[in-house]
Amino acid sequence: MADKKTFYITTPIYYVNDVPHIGHAYTSLACDVLARFKRLDGVEVMFLTGTDEHGQKVEKAAAAAGMEPQTFCDKVSETFRELGKVMNYSNDDFIRTTEQRHKKACQALWQKLEQNGHIYKGKYEGWYSVRDETFYGEKELIEGQGGEKLAPTGAAVEWVEEPSFFFKLSEWQDKLLKFYDENPGFVLPKTRFNEVKSFVKGGLRDLSISRTSFQWGVPVPGHKDHIMYVWIDALTNYISALGYPDEQAEKFRKFWPGLNMVGKDILRFHAVYWPAFLMAAGVAPPARVFAHGWWTNEGQKISKSLGNVIDPFELVEEFGLDAVRYFLMREVPFGNDGDFSRSAFIHRINGDLANDFGNLAQRCLSMIAKNCGGKIPSNQDMTGDDKKQFLDNYEKILSGCRNWLDSQQIHNYLSLLWEGVSDANLYISNEQPWVLTKEDPKRMEAVLYTTAEAIRRLAILAQPVMPDAMNKMLDLLSVPEEQRTFVHLGDDFALKPGTPLPEPVAIFPRIQDH
Ligand code: MSP
Repeated sequence: MADKKTFYITTPIYYVNDVPHIGHAYTSLACDVLARFKRLDGVEVMFLTGTDEHGQKVEKAAAAAGMEPQTFCDKVSETFRELGKVMNYSNDDFIRTTEQRHKKACQALWQKLEQNGHIYKGKYEGWYSVRDETFYGEKELIEGQGGEKLAPTGAAVEWVEEPSFFFKLSEWQDKLLKFYDENPGFVLPKTRFNEVKSFVKGGLRDLSISRTSFQWGVPVPGHKDHIMYVWIDALTNYISALGYPDEQAEKFRKFWPGLNMVGKDILRFHAVYWPAFLMAAGVAPPARVFAHGWWTNEGQKISKSLGNVIDPFELVEEFGLDAVRYFLMREVPFGNDGDFSRSAFIHRINGDLANDFGNLAQRCLSMIAKNCGGKIPSNQDMTGDDKKQFLDNYEKILSGCRNWLDSQQIHNYLSLLWEGVSDANLYISNEQPWVLTKEDPKRMEAVLYTTAEAIRRLAILAQPVMPDAMNKMLDLLSVPEEQRTFVHLGDDFALKPGTPLPEPVAIFPRIQDH
């Protein structure tokens, strides 16, 4: 994937039974960071998100709200678009499964599976969880406090008996295992891949892929009484947005296969069912499925019933967007579970942003304003040593960032950049330009120049996580807007002495806890 000139990244599509919360914001944010990084790195990117609007769960939620399903979906889907605006996601498209382009793709995929002999008609008898939109085998169930049967996730299950079409998933065990062997990077993190493999090794049952007991979904072609199982419908979104069934469509040819980013709870659908469906239809499986972990709130599982759902809109309102984006991406190794706590948030933001990066910029820019006439200082007295400290190793930093992000290790990419921030802080503390103001003003200018140039490079590299704040920082350095991509990192585009700078302002104020 690393050398490809195009990059396709998708978020899961979000159920519209509920309003957006921090979990949704997190998945999309990670995708946004990866998409922005690739764009800055000269890669043609397609970043897709959207909403999953069919199935029993949504139908029930609409009924509970006393609304027609379509009107209900229109309303809730809009809140996810709103979240996208508030979080500053740079998605290129937003797909809704109630759109015609999507229904057409689902039906075409179904027909392909049928033509290729992978579907048969039968009867489903078994357990179903509407909350999880998942069929469960008897052995998977657990016992609730009152002795009732529950899904392994704790969701209620109901016994279902109805005519159904089945996908012959049982025939895919060997083919999937072979595919996994041949594609060792198909699922990340590795531990999750092992879970997938052992699930498949345990044997696969045919999968019920249509329902007859409700209406809200895509009709099975030629069998209007059957509605497609919401997961076959939902997964198809990743290719319907590319123009499937037209496999010659420009987007499809350019971007498929892509990276499907998901939470760990929906990995099985993406790493087992999805590649099987695609291979059965003669389409390539995704290039990678990355499963990230889950957030808890102050140590507790996030749930509506506990009333501890973290509202991303409120968080942004209180702390500012880029602080929220930075915290979510930096605090927890991407792929692990993580805990959201107010004190950890404040500690992280005050430490990394206000103290480390913010102070560095503040110190350097206010000295330039005061002592260099508000212009980029002269670099005449710069030494080889100044350059060596960090300017000369930016290529190494860039390739380090690329490596981390090609394996979706977003936290490591940030910690690599913050090593650069620490180096720059150390440099300015050691060189003490404030002592040089009188003694050696030329040298002071060189030190401030070097620091400002380091800030320019770090700000360019940190744009994917904090696009607004880093743009402001680059504005403070008068870096032309069209010179902020990774090709502009090097000496050819270095700051030009004498360039007038705007009045410096603090970019990352300290958060006062109350
Ligand atoms: N509609 C399906 C996905 C279909 S994709 C073809 C779905 N939707 S969802 O709205 O329930 O969840 C979307 C994503 O949010 C999942 O990736 C899930 O892991 C993520 N999160 C939900 N709660 C979360 C946390 N508390 N923490 C982190 N992410 C979590 O599943």
